[in-house]
Amino acid sequence: MESTINRRDWFKSTISLTAGLTLGPSLVQQLIAAPASKAEASFFSGGKKMSSKIRLNSNENPYGPSEKAKQAVVSILSEANRYPFKETEDLKALIAAKEGVTPQHIHIGAGSGDILCQAAVAFGIEGGSVMSSYPTFPLLMNFAEVFKCRWDRVDANEKLEHDYDAMAAAVKSDTRLVFICNPNNPTGTIVSPAKIKSFCEEVSKKSVVYVDEAYIEFLEPAQQVSMVELVKKDMNVIVSKTFSKVYGLAGLRVGYIVAKPELIDRVYKYAGDIPLSQTAIAAAMASMGDETFMKMTRDKNAAARAVLTDYLDKHKVFYGKPLSNVVFFPAPRDGKTILAKMEEKGFLMRVWDYKEKEWCRVSIGTMEEMKMFVKAFDEVVA
Ligand SMILES: Cc1ncc(COP(=O)(O)O)c(C=O)c1O
Repeated sequence: MESTINRRDWFKSTISLTAGLTLGPSLVQQLIAAPASKAEASFFSGGKKMSSKIRLNSNENPYGPSEKAKQAVVSILSEANRYPFKETEDLKALIAAKEGVTPQHIHIGAGSGDILCQAAVAFGIEGGSVMSSYPTFPLLMNFAEVFKCRWDRVDANEKLEHDYDAMAAAVKSDTRLVFICNPNNPTGTIVSPAKIKSFCEEVSKKSVVYVDEAYIEFLEPAQQVSMVELVKKDMNVIVSKTFSKVYGLAGLRVGYIVAKPELIDRVYKYAGDIPLSQTAIAAAMASMGDETFMKMTRDKNAAARAVLTDYLDKHKVFYGKPLSNVVFFPAPRDGKTILAKMEEKGFLMRVWDYKEKEWCRVSIGTMEEMKMFVKAFDEVVA
């Protein structure tokens, strides 16, 4: 598939760059920013940079951080001369209490991406394979590939959901880790918690299952069924969460995993273990469980998302049922032109290659931004 060749080429050049110790963005930063299509590779090769456009390309929260988080950051500044050793333990204890586990079940990182990379080393360093649905958030698998670990991909079903039956059937004797993302990035789709639970129960007997719940708080509270319940049953399941999305703290960098202590130790072994900053910890502690802020984000996001899905419905464009802050649909014209013309009109978005086609991935901004986006997009694809 084009996308595979494209990514492999990108990684090859990335690795040789790193081997030559060229100064510049780290390998992980390059992997995070890796193009998801030939169109993106070509667009960015012209030296394009993220600029002060309307950023519908990183699934960020356009409303965050909350006032509580901002106040906490301001208040903690007078402690900026102190290493945050105690505060790190305080945050871990608070997260453990929220998740209903012990602090030994928690590992904190500079964003959940930090820990995805640690897990990629922990489970990929001895080779074998990691498996996931595709398309999905590729960081863990991309980083595992750097260690010569194979990435086995299982195509999503026709509704752009993880195909859990096909994934269960694809587990091999050398599968070290199975990555699932619920709700999924880039499709925004979910699968029923009962299905995910039975998948995890079965597959975790053969391989570790890593459940990325970065977007789970975008679901209505009754739908927010976390697989942490399986961790409490001592299963081979790691659940990943972040403060970057609904809590709007992507720039401060706090994420964590919940798992049984032996799995935590296996991942933690590859952590640099440099504490987070006082400000990040303070903002995360002030934000956690802030239902008012989360509800505001959820409600505004759903209303703004409807602007885009209504537009796609009107033009009979297929998309996966999005339940988070991202929508994924087939590109109505070539991806390179879409990226370039939308950038000219002031919007950043993504284009992915999947199944020999190009797909648009659009993050949900504010209502105003989405109204402007559909107008501009309509002009570009007309
Ligand atoms: C599914 C998923 N997991 C993890 C991350 C990493 O986020 P962060 O490192 O900010 O926690 C992202 C970022 O977009 C994501 O989409």
